[in-house]
Amino acid sequence: MYHKRQVVLVRGEGARVWDADGREYVDCTAGIGVAALGHAHPVVVEALTEQAARLVTCHEGFYNDQRAALLDRLDAVTPSALDRFFLSSSGTEANEAAIKFSRAATGRPEIVSAMRGYHGKTFGALSATWGKSYRTPFEPLVPGFRMVPFNRPDAVVEAISDTTAAVLVEVVQGEGGVRPATTEYLQALRTACTNRGALLIIDEVQTGFGRTGKLFAFEHHGVAPDILTLAKSVAGGVPMGVTAFGDAVGQLPKLSHTTTFGGNPLACAVADRVIAHIVSADLPAHAAAQGRRLIDAVETLSSPRVREVRGLGLMIGIELKQPAGPAARSLMDEGILVLLAGSTVLRLLPPLVIQPEEIDRVITALGKVLA
Ligand SMILES: Cc1ncc(COP(=O)(O)O)c(C=O)c1O
Repeated sequence: MYHKRQVVLVRGEGARVWDADGREYVDCTAGIGVAALGHAHPVVVEALTEQAARLVTCHEGFYNDQRAALLDRLDAVTPSALDRFFLSSSGTEANEAAIKFSRAATGRPEIVSAMRGYHGKTFGALSATWGKSYRTPFEPLVPGFRMVPFNRPDAVVEAISDTTAAVLVEVVQGEGGVRPATTEYLQALRTACTNRGALLIIDEVQTGFGRTGKLFAFEHHGVAPDILTLAKSVAGGVPMGVTAFGDAVGQLPKLSHTTTFGGNPLACAVADRVIAHIVSADLPAHAAAQGRRLIDAVETLSSPRVREVRGLGLMIGIELKQPAGPAARSLMDEGILVLLAGSTVLRLLPPLVIQPEEIDRVITALGKVLA
């Protein structure tokens, strides 16, 4: 199911990883934007080992101290209107819950999402996801979903009606090519959802917890969601998804949506410490500064092979005028691991703790490969 790169990664520290032959790489993939604190960070290691020795599993049918601490932490860092949290184990599950909750809360069927959007690959999230090759083999998908062009306020406002349960959107489309939403688009969406009684679901699975230079990417635009979905960085590499909501959703029937692993103490203990560290070390500010440096440097290269550089914080897309695969392979030869987003975009999602000298290595390698 995966394209494999010809390398066996066995160890990591900070923003660096090593392969089985001892070769070092600067890791601008971070498990696709997961390892916010980098690899083997003492905060993650301590939380994992301490909690593993205390209590790994405890179903949501019981209260648990680590889960309670995490819920308090999430409550403190998210907008005050979002004060309830459904815990799961992945981004697609966070969106699945959001889609179901919005239908239950509004009694309406329709979910509107954006072209080029990516929300996951379980049936509900996939039905809101753009990629044709992801959808076609598994059709028919869930009924009641429709997609409208991204960053077109008029199109989305027109699509929201009194049968719309929710609009589901990313603030920066990641998989779709690192495309930031405009403030005008998000504000128009917010107003139209409020006016029509539809819920705004913001998917910050990739952008959340400092990646874009703010704790949450919606903060760049002065727009707040009714439901916020999170995963990837939240537990620093341990699987976790979070669906945050508030009174707009209200109470749902007990047991109507559950998952065995959701809220397990191991993931909760790590997530609590990871979020605390992201905030206390002000990693969003570090991401903003290092990301700016990297984007400026790539723009200064004025490479004839680059069509556009896009991004926010440490979520960076370099769109080439040709397929990006060969450039990604050349970067690997130079000791830099990067991702692709579509066929022509190099995507960089390094750990938020990446150091200036590691950014310099990335810049040097990009200079060589894109010359
Ligand atoms: C914006 C967004 N939403 C949802 C998902 C799905 O998350 P997962 O792969 O954990 O199911 C992703 C994964 O890349 C994502 O980037």
